[in-house]
Amino acid sequence: MFELERQKVEENIIVFCHQEDLPEIQVAWNSIPFSGHWGISTSLFALAAAEVRQKQIKINVPQRAAELAEKLVDFLGIPQGFEKVEAVKGYVNLYFSQNEYTRRVLEAVFTEKENFGRHQPYNQQVMVEFSQPNTHKAFHVGHLRSAILGDTLSRILEFGGYDVVRANYPGDMGLHVIKWLWCYKNFHAGEKPEEDITRWMGSIYAEASKRLEENPELEAEIRELYTLWDQGDPEIVNLWQETRQWSLNGFYEMYETLNIHFDRYYFNSQMEKPGKAIVQTLIDKGIAQDERPDGAVIVKIDEVLGLNKDKYRVLVVLRSDGTALYATEDLALSKQKFEDYPDLSKSYYVVDVRQSLHFQQIFKTMEILGYDWAKKCEHIPYELVSLPGNVVMASREGTVVLLEDLISEATNRAYEVVKQKNPDLSEEKNREIARAIGIGAIKYPMQARENAKIVTFDWESALDFNGQAAPYIQYAYVRAGSILRKAGVEKMDWDIPVYDMAPIEVELIDMISRFPQEVERAANEMRTIQITTYAYELAKRFNEFYNQCPVLKVEEPVRSARLRLVFATRQAVKNSLALLGITAPEAM
Ligand code: ARG
Repeated sequence: MFELERQKVEENIIVFCHQEDLPEIQVAWNSIPFSGHWGISTSLFALAAAEVRQKQIKINVPQRAAELAEKLVDFLGIPQGFEKVEAVKGYVNLYFSQNEYTRRVLEAVFTEKENFGRHQPYNQQVMVEFSQPNTHKAFHVGHLRSAILGDTLSRILEFGGYDVVRANYPGDMGLHVIKWLWCYKNFHAGEKPEEDITRWMGSIYAEASKRLEENPELEAEIRELYTLWDQGDPEIVNLWQETRQWSLNGFYEMYETLNIHFDRYYFNSQMEKPGKAIVQTLIDKGIAQDERPDGAVIVKIDEVLGLNKDKYRVLVVLRSDGTALYATEDLALSKQKFEDYPDLSKSYYVVDVRQSLHFQQIFKTMEILGYDWAKKCEHIPYELVSLPGNVVMASREGTVVLLEDLISEATNRAYEVVKQKNPDLSEEKNREIARAIGIGAIKYPMQARENAKIVTFDWESALDFNGQAAPYIQYAYVRAGSILRKAGVEKMDWDIPVYDMAPIEVELIDMISRFPQEVERAANEMRTIQITTYAYELAKRFNEFYNQCPVLKVEEPVRSARLRLVFATRQAVKNSLALLGITAPEAM
């Protein structure tokens, strides 16, 4: 933000070196950790050491660095844009003028608005594969985390300067689908889902599992059906295609509710053939061992790599009966992605942490096959969601909490609060606000944990208006908006008058100014928690500011200045909520 001023100081340091007959050095800056003041610092140790070396003199480097720092501080005076310069143990610290810093932060927010915090484009394309629900099954809380996490990571990457391709990979074939088709054909033939498609699809799957559990001998019928599908039996294939579409329609509805979109759909079923072809190449090249018909086709990855330890272990790439496995399909998928998007600089897979070894094996196997892009593939693991009572979601047992139930419960709970707070708003408005709060309440906790740690979801904390939760942050946004409305200022520029700021105001400005770095870091580390924490801290500072600093009832020029702070905070809250895929409502 102070590039020009910094450059000027650097030039002056060079003049200083000449004048003192010192070797010329490259000036490196560090920001001074914020403690009420913003500043940068540079060390003179390298300069002192270079001098000692060059002049072959016998002095102690730290002592010389301290002397040079003192001298340099005298030489620099107080440069333009700064308000204090000091020498501390061989370091020179320069503090920015607080007012000037504030003005620049505000200028950035006021001019960039919804783009405040956006990184300039890297001109690099990345793919994020996420959500990947299985058709012919229910969509439950576990799937929700992948959907929400993947969506936010995509938003962060996009805002962080990358060109993002959002990919989905529904599991549309496999034993679960055959079981479903079997149950449908035998007990529900001709039925069609009217509404609540995903629930209905899930219930048939649960029924199938139950029937098979009670009568294990029926498994023979399943195998038969699988073979028919494998041979391309038109009746089965048609039924599969039709019913698959029902599931997909259900997913589309869900994604719309959650405001999540995809650029590209890949399907398990499309990867079977190309997957088998890759397996053949692996066999031909002697990378895979074909142990059929007694065994499967396998790749002993550690052995191929000449590793003496158990790292990648053995990847089974084809069943002994020649049918494709999950892994067979993933080999093909990884390749397909780079065929479709050859310029990808990264191909991310947001998938359950239990599949970590699987992905390492897939990527390594493709690397061994000679595909350089395999190094650009990366698994982003996430953990389960547990609900109070520790019900781990599994659709076979039918003990799942369905997404639609979760959303309607969240919305109803939020509605009760909203109705109380806003008796004057129309029913329709209140419903709309309740929806924004309800969905925010679900989304926030799913992202406010390290990816690979379990999320424990409970209503108390998800809907907390006073704690680290979406409603608290949304409320800060609403409050800021209502202050601005009451002030009735039509147009405002960022040019803040000079005044004595309270410590909390300085802290608030610091929080706002940090947003671009937080985005950059979140994108580099692929961590949504970076943004959830930021949004909460920002809202918290704002509430402290609100409690300590009167805005509307204070005299000018402080009033104008504070209104600008409110405006800037509101924008930063809005931008961070947008990254989390959470709506910032106008009233609450
Ligand atoms: N549908 C799979 C499951 O439910 C997840 C797919 C993950 N992505 C992949 N490329 N394998 O476990």
